[in-house]
Amino acid sequence: MEMINLTIDGQQIQVKAGTTVLEAARSAGIKIPTLCYMKEINEIGACRVCVVEANGRMVASCVTPVTEGMEIKTNTPAVREARKTVVELMISDHPMECLTCERNGKCELQTLAENLGIREIPYEGARRDLPKDTSSPSIVRDPNKCILCRKCEAVCAKIQEAHVLGGQNRGFNTIVAPAFSLPLNDVACTMCGQCIHACPVGAIYEKDDTAKVWEALGDPEKHVVVQIAPAVRVA
Ligand code: FES
Repeated sequence: MEMINLTIDGQQIQVKAGTTVLEAARSAGIKIPTLCYMKEINEIGACRVCVVEANGRMVASCVTPVTEGMEIKTNTPAVREARKTVVELMISDHPMECLTCERNGKCELQTLAENLGIREIPYEGARRDLPKDTSSPSIVRDPNKCILCRKCEAVCAKIQEAHVLGGQNRGFNTIVAPAFSLPLNDVACTMCGQCIHACPVGAIYEKDDTAKVWEALGDPEKHVVVQIAPAVRVA
């Protein structure tokens, strides 16, 4: 197995060839923030939050393989400024509804903004105003909060093999939704909830609509599936 020598924040380390800068840093105990990365499931370099300096160039660490003699810096003023700009741009088109958002206090974007010291957004521009998809009895999609990390799409395809979610439209109008932007209830969604678990923000969340779940499954009276086993007397 070919090994690669490199330096990360002054630490000399050795990792297997093919390792990404992000994984190399993690192996050295160095934390780099991520939003879109899921090891071996979603390695697409979409969010750019994991930016670092590699031999003086800014690169997305989650999709950059290490090379011999590489010198990585993960926490320079330029790197911190680049991350801050990336997050500010994401938030510039994000609904400011944190207090009423399902993910308030558990939102990765919110945590990142706080850690980067973001207090105001210097960018103004168009905002999306798309309808929520509330058609499913158990899942709500709010495309206005989507940061296009594509984690939901990746788990839907690679873990659940349902292939229900995918990128629709282009450029500013891109959303992650079922094909032709059909409602979730009209496609082969299995309501597994993997997408909810993977979403780093409040763009997909659980809906407490038990009555409608029963409705979707049919008459609850006909779904008595629990059988109580007879008690065993211990002598
Ligand atoms: Fe690397 Fe998103 S975590 S680009």
